[in-house]
Amino acid sequence: MKVLLAVGGGIAAYKSAELARLLMQQGHQVQVVMTAAAEEFVRPLTFAALTGRKVLTNLFAIESAIQHIAVAQENELLVIAPATADLMAKLAHGLADDILTTLYLAFTGPVLLAPAMNVNMWQHPATQANLATLVKRGHTIVEPGSGYLACGMTGPGRLADPEIIAAAIAATVESSAHPRRDLEGETVLITAGPTQEPLDPVRYISNRSSGKMGYALAEAARARGARVILVSGPVHLPPPHGVEVVAVRTAAEMREQVMQHLPAAGIVIKAAAVADFHLSKVPEQKVKKTAARISLELDPTPDILAELGRKKGDFLLVGFAAETQNLEQESRRKLESKNCDMVVGNLVGANDLGFESDENEVVLTLRTGETIAVPRASKRDIADRIFDEVLKLRLALHATDGR
Ligand code: PMT
Repeated sequence: MKVLLAVGGGIAAYKSAELARLLMQQGHQVQVVMTAAAEEFVRPLTFAALTGRKVLTNLFAIESAIQHIAVAQENELLVIAPATADLMAKLAHGLADDILTTLYLAFTGPVLLAPAMNVNMWQHPATQANLATLVKRGHTIVEPGSGYLACGMTGPGRLADPEIIAAAIAATVESSAHPRRDLEGETVLITAGPTQEPLDPVRYISNRSSGKMGYALAEAARARGARVILVSGPVHLPPPHGVEVVAVRTAAEMREQVMQHLPAAGIVIKAAAVADFHLSKVPEQKVKKTAARISLELDPTPDILAELGRKKGDFLLVGFAAETQNLEQESRRKLESKNCDMVVGNLVGANDLGFESDENEVVLTLRTGETIAVPRASKRDIADRIFDEVLKLRLALHATDGR
């Protein structure tokens, strides 16, 4: 593969020479690009000798005004190691003031970043916000290691070992060479986002669901070849490419659309945070502030998941559980009471995960009795992991009960 190895200006730049050597050994063609700061730590000649190619260091010293576009187009993978705090900030915000950042914007293939910096810089909210932006953009992050840092401090921030970065590169190469199409021919019905239950023409009850988890599931299923029907509550997310989005507002509307599309579906995933209660009779006019206190009498909304569980025939049913405590027990209880095949449990409220976040950490509770902990990762990666396990589970259930 043609790899563009971009070296940022940190003391860890010397380790990138070893990375370049490993990549060459693995048979890749490696084009190195360095920032001016990187040149302060390692001379371009080192990389030129290791890769057999002239190193790109200056946007204005390349052969033509558009050579950086050609370089970006002819390479298949961009690896940024070390990715310094400054570089991550520039990439997150789309600045393009040197050869490396310009190539980044012109590059359209997969991007892998290996950050390295002082522990305080790594943990600073600005760096973490930039990291979240880059993760959301779909880039692979090879997390820095923890230990003694060149600055004399101890903690996370050390560039991952070149062997670890090379292994992550191999995994990225593998997945881009063989994109998974294991949901081809399937129809996946997914619900996402909150529902809004009106109290009058201007007020409603809702919850914090952003729709990110459900949309990530829709994107993953689509990328793996499925036809995807996404029944979505009100969210501020762009419709995923190639997905049929059915917009709804209330739990009742969501139920209606889910039941309407159910006959086509082989896999149903209920990631939506459906309101549990609503006002059965919504006043036609705005409620006036005439009393000091008012009470609301709410009725339960239709439990869509439970209804799907009762109907279950040929489709595989995945529910979600958003819990603030006793995640595993509650997930198992929901699996049994709603007749699901899998429940994806996430802890909400106590940490920064679950609602609204770009990342999540879940526990999968399976009908087979198995429980699988999926560690913190982007919601897109969690979505892929859910589909991996759904496909395995379907095979296991097929073998035991013929489904
Ligand atoms: O949207 P994000 O910001 O990305 O956040 C993701 C998430 C936290 C919303 C998601 O990961 C999640 O946990 N979704 C389910 C939230 C929820 O409503 O949990 P619950 O434990 O109240 O409901 C259990 C299951 O029953 C869910 O599959 C839900 O869709 C379903 N349900 C609930 C009530 C109802 N009336 N009908 C239902 O179908």
